[in-house]
Amino acid sequence: MSSNRPDTRLPLVVLISGSGSNLQAIIDATKYQNLPIDIRAVVSNVADAYGLQRAKQANIKTKIIDHQEFKDRSIFDRTLLSAINQYQAQLIVLAGFMRILGADFVSSFQGKIVNIHPSLLPAYPGLHTHQRALKDKVRFHGATVHFVTAQLDSGPIIIQGSVPVLVDDSIEQLQQRVHKVEHKIYPQAIRWLAENRLSVSDGKVLLDGQQKSEQHIRIED
Ligand code: GRF
Repeated sequence: MSSNRPDTRLPLVVLISGSGSNLQAIIDATKYQNLPIDIRAVVSNVADAYGLQRAKQANIKTKIIDHQEFKDRSIFDRTLLSAINQYQAQLIVLAGFMRILGADFVSSFQGKIVNIHPSLLPAYPGLHTHQRALKDKVRFHGATVHFVTAQLDSGPIIIQGSVPVLVDDSIEQLQQRVHKVEHKIYPQAIRWLAENRLSVSDGKVLLDGQQKSEQHIRIED
């Protein structure tokens, strides 16, 4: 990027706890599809999260803040927040981050935290979503990108991606199919945010001022 042109990329931090395949999808969209963001750092609460390797490979700064080293959640949250503030991020992207952030943390980044959840919310908030979907024999399952509020897995929905549930699906097969759609919808949601195209009205996320069909995609395999 030329030094005398203003940097219009959205500065953000990605929080992870594990494999980081969504992080990889975001990195790839930045590299190959002109996603206009600047990933300032990847922060993990788990020291050996594989996503940290992915970040290093892409020359992105990494930081480990291990929640086990803090005696209560609010001190962990404050430490995390001050680390994030140092990166001057305007968006926090939760990508498989397995800690619940407290109300103070969320309110100090109001409207600027997004999460991806492996279900078609409001169905199946919480854990073990694929097992629960299989047990209920639902025909469709999927993933949701939403703004984070103090209530778990219930903030305004930016985009959802659905996939069919097949009769003989194992948990792993269904999880893989859902992952595929996650890797499409997360970069898409972040692009809309970076392009300033989203607003929230009455708890609904609008794209260019309206609820649009692009906010729900479906993949068949
Ligand atoms: C994804 O299924 C995401 O929906 C959930 O955690 C998982 C993270 O996977 N929040 P990865 O670390 O991005 O591979």
